[in-house]
This record gives sequence, C-alpha cells and structure tokens, in this order.
Amino acid sequence: MRYGIEKETLNWAESVWEKLEIKLEAECRRLGSIMPYVPVDGRYEDMGKRELAAWTNGFYSGMLWQMYHATGKGCYKDAATGIEERLDEALTSFTKLDHDVGFLWLHTAVADYRLTGSKGSRARGLHAAGILAGRYNPKGRYIKAWNGERAGVAIVDCLMNLPLLYWAAEEQHDSAYRQIAVNHTDTVLNYILRPDGSCNHMVEFDPATGEYLDNPGGQGYESGSSWSRGQAWAIYGMSLAYRYTGNEVYLDAAKRVAHYVCANLAIHDDIPLIDFRAPAQPVYYDTTAGVCAACGLLELSEHVRYLEKDLYVKSAVRCLKAVTDRFCQWNPDIDSVVSCGSARYDRESDRQVPIIYGDYFLTEGILRLLDRDFLIW
Ligand code: GLY
Repeated sequence: MRYGIEKETLNWAESVWEKLEIKLEAECRRLGSIMPYVPVDGRYEDMGKRELAAWTNGFYSGMLWQMYHATGKGCYKDAATGIEERLDEALTSFTKLDHDVGFLWLHTAVADYRLTGSKGSRARGLHAAGILAGRYNPKGRYIKAWNGERAGVAIVDCLMNLPLLYWAAEEQHDSAYRQIAVNHTDTVLNYILRPDGSCNHMVEFDPATGEYLDNPGGQGYESGSSWSRGQAWAIYGMSLAYRYTGNEVYLDAAKRVAHYVCANLAIHDDIPLIDFRAPAQPVYYDTTAGVCAACGLLELSEHVRYLEKDLYVKSAVRCLKAVTDRFCQWNPDIDSVVSCGSARYDRESDRQVPIIYGDYFLTEGILRLLDRDFLIW
C-alpha cells in the first residue's frame, strides 16, 4: 500500500467503497452517457445539452473510467465512451473551447486511450493537446484561460490541465508540449502563489507585451483572499508538475501550499470554507475543495521522503472522513453523493450544493487509499 495507512483507516475506506460501488453502479445504469453538473431535487440534468464545452462535463466520465478500472464492469465503459463521442461536436466545431480542454479530454479520450488503447481516443486527446498548446502566450509565458477580452488572464486551475501536454509530449516524442507546460507552471509560481503558502486565483498580463498588470479577484471572496479550491488545485497541480518534471522547486511549492491548507483545515473541522480568508459570517463551505485537496495531498505524499508522508496522508484522510461523515448521501435512487460543494463565493445558485467534481474527487481519493485508482492526470 503506497500510503502506509493503518488497518482501521483501510477498513473505513473499504466501507465507503462498498457504498460508493452500489451508488455509482445504480447511477450509471440509470443515467447512461449524460454530463451532470448539479442535481435538481435529487435528479441530474444533462449539462451537455445546455453547454457542451462546460469545463465540468468530463468529470462524470472520469468517475466512470475510475470505476471501470477498479471493477472491470462494462456498463461504466459504455457510458464513458458515449460521453467521449458526444464531446466530438465541441472538439470539431471549436465552439467555446478554452484552457479546460484538459479537464474535458483527460477524463474522456485520454483515459479511454490509457485503459483500452483506442486509436480514435488517442487522436481526440492529441487534438485537444494541440488546442491547449495553441493557447500559449510566449510574451507572458502563460496559457490563456479564456478568450477575447480576457486573453491576458492565467489562472491557478490550469495546472490541472497541463498533464494533457505532458501526455502529448510523450505520445508525440515532442518536448515542445512539455516546455509550454513548464513555462506556464513557472508563471504560476512567480505570479499566483504567495510566499506564505496561500495563492491568488488569477494573474492578468497585457497579452500584447506580456507585462504584469494585476491579480484580480476570482471565485473567492476578493482579490488578496484565499479561494480554497484554488489552493487545492495548487497542491495537486504542483505535485503533478513535480511528477512529470522532477523539478524540486515545484515539490517545495506544493508543500508550501499544503502546509497552509492543512493548517486551515485543522481549524475548520477538516472541511474547507469556500475562502479561507472570508468574513467569519456567513459560513460557506466547499467540500469539493476538500476532496480535491485530499487527492492532491495523497499525490504529494508519494513524492516526499518517508518521514514526511504522515502529515499529508493523515490530513487527506481526516478531510475525506469529515466529508463522508457529514456530507454524503448513499441512497442509490438519488443522484449525487457529496453535498455542500460551492462553485464560487458570490453565486447562490451553485453554492453549498452537490457538484459533480466533488463526487469525482471523493471516488479518486477512496480508490487511491485502496490502491485501486489509475492516474487520470
Ligand atoms: N476550474 C474552475 C473551478 O475550479 O471552478
């Protein structure tokens, strides 16, 4: 077992897995190839019909591939393959695509290729990687998050899209993809991460000259605050950057953010607020930040010396336990598992609700503890 966890924790993870398996198989058989986001009255709607290229549309597929890998059951593969095919329209029409092509195609085509060797899936993944690489701004040395007027903005979340480039570099034997990923990571290090281990959500450059302009507020409380999912992306993204490059600077950055997040989790009963630097009231949680940070902490623990591991593994387990104790519902007839996720601080419609990526990261986290996951990133 790569995390060295005790028997009691292993038994707990097994008991969560048993419930997860029943619930996710029921969902898969009921829902088929849909792209869920937030359930309404316990029922998922198909976000893919409303907005095919929404950044969240790959996560259900990612869960299905994790379940296929862990169980070998064909129902998961069939549903995931259907989602991948549905996304072709977004890939070929080039409509509303942005840097989140990583989230979309790592969880669909690349996962499919890694598990089945499908040639068509490999081609889709490489198309998506080409699109991501084409978003690189060489003056500012960043991958633009969005389009048009916002072409000067880079965000911390993009660290999680970069594994698409590391994958393409290996597939194509072309280090240019990798160089773009490295340059963007350095920019995040220099302009988004802060010395105290917290981080900004965004940085804005003049896209024509590459000149630094500002760190605008993003999905957290305000500019200068500390949006917890952004901190989770930083832990996980910097750990992955270390996995793919071996650059110790990235590992140290991941540790710095991890220490900041672990300290904040410890004073909030192991569940993150949407923003660690929001006013004391109202209290808004974001469980998705917790389960994502837990996966990032587990990834980080794989790259440190053995006496360093405990802090990261134990903090990850405490967070996963807190989420399952307080915020999971296991009725197989109701869509979604993890409640109290929040997309952003200032929007009520998807604040403190179940969100699909919360379920993805819970599934990945539990499978990691049981050594039954596969690396989708
Ligand atoms: N990548 C967007 C978010 O974390 O909400």
